[in-house]
Amino acid sequence: APTSRLTVTVNGTRHTVTVDNRTSLLDLLREHLDLTGAKKGCDAGACGACTVLVDGHRQNACLTLAVRLEGAEVTTVEGLADGDHLHPLQQAFIDEDAFQCGYCTPGQIVSGVGCIKEDHTDSPEEIREWMSGNLCRCGCYVKIVRAVEQAAG
Ligand code: FES
Repeated sequence: APTSRLTVTVNGTRHTVTVDNRTSLLDLLREHLDLTGAKKGCDAGACGACTVLVDGHRQNACLTLAVRLEGAEVTTVEGLADGDHLHPLQQAFIDEDAFQCGYCTPGQIVSGVGCIKEDHTDSPEEIREWMSGNLCRCGCYVKIVRAVEQAAG
């Protein structure tokens, strides 16, 4: 299969990799770069478990072709903490007890960071709407919205 060489920055580190042209960003992260924070729930854009930021904007990594990312900056859940200091939204998920099994949590947190960055936090309804692409089978939605509200201040 045709391959391409690309250089992409992930969580502040530049990587140059050669990948099959069909490789998704999610597989690039998980299989080539050993960053398994973004999860493969549906691999079809329906669950949000794979959510990352690309150049600051929320994206489903399973729907994004890696070869499109030449020169891009990707942030995954692994890149949110500042040394030993959790990102305020990571702390808020703990404080609000906003997860049970935890599988969707990385995607929820990255999506919530996008929500706060893009200022969609005026009301619980607005947060819920923004987060509606992130499914949680344990049903932690109320607490997830509260965590985003807490972190948004
Ligand atoms: Fe990408 Fe479900 S794994 S949206």
